[in-house]
Amino acid sequence: MRTPTFEELAGDEAEFFANHFNQTPLLRRAALSGDSRDVLSVADLDELLHLEAIRPPYLAITKDGDGVPERAYTTLTRVQGTTVTDTVVAERVYELFRTGATLTWSSLNHVLPSVRALTRMLATKFAARSDVVAFLTPAGRQGFSPHHDPVDLFIIQLEGTKHWKLWEPPATRRGDIGHYKLEELGTPVIETTLQAGDVLYLPYNTPHVAAAEDQVSLHLSVMVRPRMWRDLLGLAVERLLDTEGFWQFPYLHESTVTDLVPTFTDHAALLAERLREIDVEAELRRLMTLGQHSEGTAQGNEFQTIAALDAIGGSTLLRRTDVAVTFQESRDGRTKTKVNGHTIAIPSAVAATLERMTSGEPVPAREINPDVETERSVGIAQALARLGVLTVAR
Ligand SMILES: [Fe+2]
Repeated sequence: MRTPTFEELAGDEAEFFANHFNQTPLLRRAALSGDSRDVLSVADLDELLHLEAIRPPYLAITKDGDGVPERAYTTLTRVQGTTVTDTVVAERVYELFRTGATLTWSSLNHVLPSVRALTRMLATKFAARSDVVAFLTPAGRQGFSPHHDPVDLFIIQLEGTKHWKLWEPPATRRGDIGHYKLEELGTPVIETTLQAGDVLYLPYNTPHVAAAEDQVSLHLSVMVRPRMWRDLLGLAVERLLDTEGFWQFPYLHESTVTDLVPTFTDHAALLAERLREIDVEAELRRLMTLGQHSEGTAQGNEFQTIAALDAIGGSTLLRRTDVAVTFQESRDGRTKTKVNGHTIAIPSAVAATLERMTSGEPVPAREINPDVETERSVGIAQALARLGVLTVAR
């Protein structure tokens, strides 16, 4: 499976953020390069469906506009002696699908690494949480009635076709969920049939409705939850409130309301004062980092790092990390060294190598301590790598 790039979804980044983000829909025909089924295919969903690990709420089923109760398509299974109560039964899901039900696969980024790479990329670009939902609709069915979502959406059509209608967003967009009757919406601003490989961007709160045409339709609904000023200021205030001065419990009761007025006013004034003193740029950076590391996007390589450390040999090239190391006094061939708050004594020859390595040049493990045989030098290199000072150069 392949992860689409930001440019495939949104086109030119600067142009997208200037003219479309939060403002107007964007329809990009044949936006995906190559075969759209490389991103996710109906065949992939057949495979996923048979994995016992797929359970509600990851897989939800809707028929004629209503949710199908989970017990209609789940059963008990045993995993190493433990009972899992809601394992999806593929045959029952197929039966529902054959009779017109729509399948919704929520948070595919929780199970598919290629989709997770997509949410991670989007979380970085938008400094906001991102989730991917796949919709599989039988031919000729309307999945959901007209509504708007609280999130920005990139609709990626992967197989089949789907007919979309979009309407002008309401005058005030609150970032909520809203439902409409078709009659009250009037003429759509966009009415189009998405083909495999097309991408449609909908800013939050854009009313829409979609229906599959004459074949099974698979699309991804890539959600991005941009944070409004309400959210960002709320987070900033929340941090300020968790400080000295706001930790007392007032006795709030009919009999104390009047007495509490001046204290409330004082606390509000203190909050206002702290808000004024805030380092706004640093706070914005903090909020950006928070958004970029939202749930559902984390990735790591610690197993690989640990395995690579165990495999270090004499010729393995190592380099310094950015972990701060300070060298203190040397005595009897050993140098006191401070790493991550710990003070250790290392051979002075090793300290000299570490100092030399700040230039970024990788050094083979056997030369970390050139005064001893390879095996001991490698041992020291591994110990320093476990402390985070050295890493295997890739
Ligand atoms: Fe929607």
